[in-house]
Amino acid sequence: MNPPAPDHVRIFDTTLRDGEQSPGCSMTAAQKLRFAHALADLGVDIIETGFPISSDADASASVAIAREVRGPTLAALARCHPDDIDTAARVLESADKPRLHVFISTSPLHREHKLGMDREQVLARAIEGVQRARQLMDDVEFSAEDALRTEPDFLAEICAAAYEAGARTLNIPDTVGYTTPAEIRALFEFLRARIPQEDAVFSAHCHDDLGLAVANSLAAIEGGARQVECTINGIGERAGNCAMEELVTALRVREAFFSARTGIDSRRLVPTSRLLTRMTGMSVQRNKAIVGANAFAHESGIHQHGMLRHPGTYEILEPESVGWSKSQIVLGRHSGRAALADRLGELGFHPEEAQLNQIFGAFKSLAEKKREVFDADIEALALGADASAASGWRLLRLHVSTGVSDDTLPTASVELQSPDGGRIAEAATGDGPVHALFAALARATGVELDVDGYQVSSVTTGDDAQGQANLVVRVGEAEYTGNGTSTDILEASALAWIDVLNRLRRRGEIEVADAPRITPINDASATRVRRVASA
Ligand code: KIV
Ligand code: ZN
Repeated sequence: MNPPAPDHVRIFDTTLRDGEQSPGCSMTAAQKLRFAHALADLGVDIIETGFPISSDADASASVAIAREVRGPTLAALARCHPDDIDTAARVLESADKPRLHVFISTSPLHREHKLGMDREQVLARAIEGVQRARQLMDDVEFSAEDALRTEPDFLAEICAAAYEAGARTLNIPDTVGYTTPAEIRALFEFLRARIPQEDAVFSAHCHDDLGLAVANSLAAIEGGARQVECTINGIGERAGNCAMEELVTALRVREAFFSARTGIDSRRLVPTSRLLTRMTGMSVQRNKAIVGANAFAHESGIHQHGMLRHPGTYEILEPESVGWSKSQIVLGRHSGRAALADRLGELGFHPEEAQLNQIFGAFKSLAEKKREVFDADIEALALGADASAASGWRLLRLHVSTGVSDDTLPTASVELQSPDGGRIAEAATGDGPVHALFAALARATGVELDVDGYQVSSVTTGDDAQGQANLVVRVGEAEYTGNGTSTDILEASALAWIDVLNRLRRRGEIEVADAPRITPINDASATRVRRVASA
């Protein structure tokens, strides 16, 4: 790999290696392959595919990625041991741009307690490792594990030796997330001065034990780093690694300050983050920068008022620029009349002043009772009815049974009231209770929803906690959300499903022709409850 342009920072993604090896984040080989394609689309420079000697699963996923994924350089990790290095080289055989990433611990603590080796032995092993890797391929990266707790002179000595042996990327991991921005910046400046060769690319690899991984990586860039190792959503060992979405967005938004840029297609950050969440089941906290659900949500009345006049008042970047559809004005008890009027307008209501006052009063008393007021509630208020009486589909009854043995199938039956007042009942089986429930709802309404996200969280505490189900449904390019709250999470899920359906109806997204044929329930033949083989 040629050295990068002076202002280009290479993004080395290690989600599939350092990220995947952390608890709760494991992925199948097929998922890793799919995610590697997503990383290539995102525009990362290097994908670390795995640590092949550590498991057969890592090795086979790396082989599959090397066969299929084109664009980024593909790296595989190896200790400075011949077997590790040969295995890593083998799995990358079909890659068109392979890289061997060899590492050894360099800090006094690791030398003594982990390796039982002295400095000279570590130095010799590092040189042998890099030389062996170079015999197998041109692109070799050397990492000095626990570099930030290594004597700076020894660190410079081993990096210089690795460069002499043929490594052109010199990675300086803060393995235990111990450093600070000022310290790591000074270390990179020191190392750059000791190894001044133009084609030596210094790399930062920061862990987040003190919550400083992104700040430290940015400081390393200020000190001369031209590669950053990071993961999507910041997943990784213990508190995680540097979060790619935060790092690249900081570089973009503050480009004039850092004078550095990456090749990342920022609009793919949120979709890639969501893909990872879906694959691992590990969700990001709501207030996580860039990709958290609240990252562009505003609830306080003053903020909402400002946002409606000029988004720059409370936002430093456009949500669309990182892949969100738009900022979310969350209506709750802190919201003001301006935000309510704006949301009513979006929902197609344009009340007169007096009518708006009336709706606002009703909205305020509802908001005192509910944590968040959803679009369906607002529509109901605007229609002059309370939420439960809003026109549309309504859930009347629901029964769900689940099973784990071979002879029981998760099954759901539902009874709904249709928008024209008729009743319909349906049942279906599925892979699990929620799948069966959604299948039964689809049968009853005749509408299949393309569910893109589903989450249940508790909104109160205690044994009788209320669960809130949030559903994201995709219709073409647009996303619609639905919410439901109940002490029974399956009922909450059904309410969320129906909430989206009703929203789609009101917005005219569901064609009349798509609507199911409804017959009143008192006509016995119309009560269609049947068990189906699969849903
Ligand atoms: O944190 C670390 O030191 C690592 C190295 C193996 C690069 O992940
Ligand atoms: Zn690491």
